[in-house]
Amino acid sequence: MQDQNVHVIDHPLVQHKLSLMRNKEASTNSFRRLLNELSTLMAYEVTRDVPMQEVEIETPLETTRTKVIDGKKLVFVSILRAGGGILDGMLNVVPGARVGHIGLYRDPKTLMAVEYYFKMPQHMADRDVIVVDPMLATGNSAIAAVERLKELGPRSIKFVCLLTCPEGVAAMQKAHPDVPIYTAAIDRELNEHGYILPGLGDAGDRIFGTK
Ligand code: URA
Repeated sequence: MQDQNVHVIDHPLVQHKLSLMRNKEASTNSFRRLLNELSTLMAYEVTRDVPMQEVEIETPLETTRTKVIDGKKLVFVSILRAGGGILDGMLNVVPGARVGHIGLYRDPKTLMAVEYYFKMPQHMADRDVIVVDPMLATGNSAIAAVERLKELGPRSIKFVCLLTCPEGVAAMQKAHPDVPIYTAAIDRELNEHGYILPGLGDAGDRIFGTK
């Protein structure tokens, strides 16, 4: 599946690291480090088209016009708790980004997203937002997060995950066709428990070493 609003980042380094992360034998330490590295690489692709503006600066030798990122600082919005793994990697390359958090948990029976926390930087209407969550599975959390963010009217919204599946992509595109999805892979399917197959298991548990 590849359409204009779904970007599969198939860079060899991204794919290699993802394969290592899928392995159930990967330790918490390796998993976390690989996610950090992979997210840094993804940030590079995801920010490829952020608007630029020309400014005048003085080098030690002369005055020149050069480009910088336009407007207010980007906002990374992490969906708690697993989003933190991607957030850290992205901040490696955009250290000045502002950070928002949305706390959502999946009701284990209905698989629907329930919000328990929402904290965003000021001036969201002037900002470009990148929402991060490692697994776009049913899409319920991502859809709810983007719905909440749209109430603040940001300049743009993108969604970044590590893995998704056809069901997750379809649900997200139906609810938010204007929000591009960036992912390292689109796996085969979602199982009846809301897990991606073949997937990598529970991303939060693997990042934090919980079970
Ligand atoms: N969340 C996860 O952590 N893993 C999945 O496979 C699906 C949702």
